[in-house]
Amino acid sequence: MKTIQLGTSGIQSSRLAYGCWRIAGTWDPAAVTRDSETKGRAAVLAAYEAGYTLFDHADIYCDGVAETIFGKVLKENPRMRESIVIATKCGIRKPGEPDALAPVRYDFSSEHILWSCEQSLKRLGVSTIDIYQLHRPDYLMNPEEVAGAFSKLKDAGKVREFGVSNFRPSQVAALQKACPIRLIVNQVEISLANLVTFNDGTLDQCLAEHMTPLAWSPLAGGKLGGGAKKLLPSQEAYRTERVLQEVDAIAKARGSTRTVVALAWLLKHPTGIVPIVGSTDPANIREAAKADAFELSREEWYRLLEAALGARLP
Ligand SMILES: NC(=O)c1ccc[n+]([C@@H]2O[C@H](COP(=O)([O-])OP(=O)(O)OC[C@H]3O[C@@H](n4cnc5c(N)ncnc54)[C@H](OP(=O)(O)O)[C@@H]3O)[C@@H](O)[C@H]2O)c1
Repeated sequence: MKTIQLGTSGIQSSRLAYGCWRIAGTWDPAAVTRDSETKGRAAVLAAYEAGYTLFDHADIYCDGVAETIFGKVLKENPRMRESIVIATKCGIRKPGEPDALAPVRYDFSSEHILWSCEQSLKRLGVSTIDIYQLHRPDYLMNPEEVAGAFSKLKDAGKVREFGVSNFRPSQVAALQKACPIRLIVNQVEISLANLVTFNDGTLDQCLAEHMTPLAWSPLAGGKLGGGAKKLLPSQEAYRTERVLQEVDAIAKARGSTRTVVALAWLLKHPTGIVPIVGSTDPANIREAAKADAFELSREEWYRLLEAALGARLP
């Protein structure tokens, strides 16, 4: 697979990333079985063998089990670590801890960031995380405090580079103003079913500041593929029938597939969007990688935009 420089950093990644959210096969750590773990490991290895070199995690994916499974794969394949980029995230805290009334909340306190990083390092079994991202904007974020925590992690060699996720441009700007370390990625939802970042300034900011957008749910959780197994509540209402007609028409005309066309649409954007593929099916993981070699024309790209918008451009 071709590679791309992430933000202004020296990190090179494959053009598409592999997302580890689903590799435990369940969101409930108590429901993980030997079989689901085996399938998750096979998915990671399939992605590695297909040329994906950026692997995306979060501390909350199956409450840490996804990172643990990945750590086992690394341990059994020691040469893998040298050739991959490991990204993970922190900042979302689960309900019920430390007391029963605690709700889901976001926590960018220095204490929580430093503690979370240690836990992820242990679970992954590595000494350094390549990209550490703040998962969802904390309404109580103090940019100076976050900057201080980032500096500590970088100085200690525990993290190479930093990024954010689901941040609005104004939130990126506020954090970057206080933070001497350049933020290299903003991980946001982008797909033919979700065009928000084209219109809210996120992609403009990525262009202007040379940040790389990492696109989560690039196939709308499966609604732009063969179907969705598990969606986020915000994705339930996506209607993809109309855009899929156009995706399929282009795929047929070009002798390709729906998956490849939907991902190639993201790859064409000048910010260098990196789609994070979330399938755990080795065949689908390999199919998605083919998007790297597929180029849409400007006319095809706009046909898909028009179908996704459901309206002609003015
Ligand atoms: N930062 C955030 O807030 C955030 C939120 C969500 C996700 N993420 C990241 O983004 C990654 C990807 O998200 P996602 O899993 O929703 O992405 P996705 O690639 O849009 O969706 C993957 C889902 O689509 C299904 N699918 C159906 N047909 C498919 C096909 N032909 N090809 C590929 N997949 C097909 C897959 O099932 P099969 O397994 O059967 O193929 C899987 O359940 C996650 O792993 C995570 O790293 C981040």
